[in-house]
Amino acid sequence: MALYSEKVMDHFINPRNVGVIENADGVGEVGNAKCGDIMKMYLKIEDDTIKDVKFETFGCASAIASSSMATELIKGQPVEKAMELTNKAVAEALDGLPDYKMHCSVLAEEAIHSALEDYNKRRKSE
Ligand code: FES
Repeated sequence: MALYSEKVMDHFINPRNVGVIENADGVGEVGNAKCGDIMKMYLKIEDDTIKDVKFETFGCASAIASSSMATELIKGQPVEKAMELTNKAVAEALDGLPDYKMHCSVLAEEAIHSALEDYNKRRKSE
């Protein structure tokens, strides 16, 4: 069996939603201290719905594929739904990740949660 699924390879070579959103409504940045990889998520939110999402990932192939897939999974979803996104769901949508690469999908879950928390904080202080 190949180390990575076709979906992982596809999202690594051709990642969706790469970039920055100017004036984003929520921004989250997380890192993994062990491997040193960093992921940043930008959210544009209107009427409690994720209108747009972009990411920048400085990391391994699995981290890039996970961020790409995670953005696809939450785009167009209500904030509440996006909050429930788990790294497992991301890995499953990628047709699996090798066990020792599961932590890469955790980074995607954390980055999205942290961007959503930022959004909630900003809303409260408005
Ligand atoms: Fe660090 Fe994949 S090895 S996120």
